[in-house]
Amino acid sequence: KILIIDYGSQYTQLLARRIREFGVYSEVVPPNKKLNLKNVKGIILSGGPNSVYSENAPVLESNMLKLDIPLLGICYGMQLIAYNMDCEVKRDANGEYGRTEILIEKKDELFNEIPDKITTWMSHGDSVISLSEGFEPIAKTKNGIIAGFRLKSKKIWGIQFHPEVRHSEFGSDIIENFVLDICKIKGDWSLSNFIDEKIKEIKNKIGDKKAIIALSGGVDSSVAAVLVHKAIGKNLKAVFVDHGLLRKNEPEEVKRIFKEMIGLDLITINAKEKFLSKLKGVSDPEKKRKIIGEEFIRVFEKFAKENDDIEYLIQGTIYSDVIESAASGSNTSVIKSHHNVGGLPKEMDLKIFEPLREIFKDEVRSTGEILGIPKNILYRHPFPGPGLAIRIIGEITEEKLKILKNVDSIFIETLKENSWYNKVWQSFAILTPVKTVGVAGDSRKYEYVVSLRSVDSVEGMTADWSRIPFDILNQASNRITNEVSEVGRVVYDITSKPPATIEWE
Ligand code: XMP
Repeated sequence: KILIIDYGSQYTQLLARRIREFGVYSEVVPPNKKLNLKNVKGIILSGGPNSVYSENAPVLESNMLKLDIPLLGICYGMQLIAYNMDCEVKRDANGEYGRTEILIEKKDELFNEIPDKITTWMSHGDSVISLSEGFEPIAKTKNGIIAGFRLKSKKIWGIQFHPEVRHSEFGSDIIENFVLDICKIKGDWSLSNFIDEKIKEIKNKIGDKKAIIALSGGVDSSVAAVLVHKAIGKNLKAVFVDHGLLRKNEPEEVKRIFKEMIGLDLITINAKEKFLSKLKGVSDPEKKRKIIGEEFIRVFEKFAKENDDIEYLIQGTIYSDVIESAASGSNTSVIKSHHNVGGLPKEMDLKIFEPLREIFKDEVRSTGEILGIPKNILYRHPFPGPGLAIRIIGEITEEKLKILKNVDSIFIETLKENSWYNKVWQSFAILTPVKTVGVAGDSRKYEYVVSLRSVDSVEGMTADWSRIPFDILNQASNRITNEVSEVGRVVYDITSKPPATIEWE
């Protein structure tokens, strides 16, 4: 495999992605982590926002330059190599941003079959301006800045541009040269053999011991559950907590799919009353989230106590979760206290196992398809852990839950009927505490306002409101006001994130 040391570049995930496109498995690790070099055939140092001269700049592991493994530094990674080998790195020199033409000076292995002049994508302030003994430049920019070098005596390269970005011409070929030719890796990694390897690993690791997973019915936990179930069968207990805040018919649907179609024996814990009584009278969004998060933990603790032979806790953590938590500093402010069903207490004393932590969301979905999980589970919109509680503004009551479930299900049905469900990232309805005046027949009505929300997004970090055709919104609005008598008015949320968040609370 290829190890990518992540110095914080926004393109690191892309780089990992590109490498996988050649059928080579790559793993991203944060700097300063003790490296496990087993099976590592090549190392790439990513770019990053720092200058090698800034205080707290991440540094190069001391033995990195002594290893006998091919090494490629990209942007900051290149500067790190240069700085540590006494080349001259100039601070805030004439940095380049955006498209930059470079001249290939030497047809080195890295640039095999690459034309002499290529347009690349640059984004750097500092520059390497001269090289020390043993290095040779292999590419330069028009400004004479070193765009690529190689250490002659070892398999060490540095390039200033970002080959992983699509705007870099021949970028993929350069990565391919490094990974397949220089590191000599056979490109035979695929999801099918990932699944086979994982199943073997799970059998070895967990074997005939018992494991538990909190199944939410979402993509990640579903795929994790089915994968582990394939390996250890009945020794996996999948627990589904029905907190009463799920979408219409969702508990029944999840139970049906897992029990009947997948053969996974789902243990459903009906905790509806408990959750609702704890939430009674609470309207502060953060309080709601905290209560729900804590209650989840309590329910699990109880289950684990009653089943004290369980040793492992399976979590549906995926690649982007790992990278985000590794990259984000401790100073990031809490916008919302996100709660995942998987966020369980340490005191439970279970060993954590995360079978999907190496793969991307779309790979998780493909894995699910290979494992035979129905598409309506794999391609459904994200749903927050606290569920409808954060979509009912103000106090939660049984009546409001019923209204919101009906409205939400009409909206989703309408999108599906018009083939819009899969065109948007997430859609749902919000029940506001506002009542407004209307007229039905000859009489006055005084009923709730609901809002529909639909967004386009990649990972939920930023989002834009979906341009759903008016006609479809009209169909949804008509059905809602006709079929849900407690609703008198329907509005559509046209706010992007930022400044708003996707959910209302
Ligand atoms: P926001 O509202 O923060 O939401 O823009 C971004 C994405 O995250 C989902 N979300 C959550 N998911 N637990 C979750 O598992 C939570 O507490 C939570 N809060 C928001 C939200 O639905 C959107 O997809």
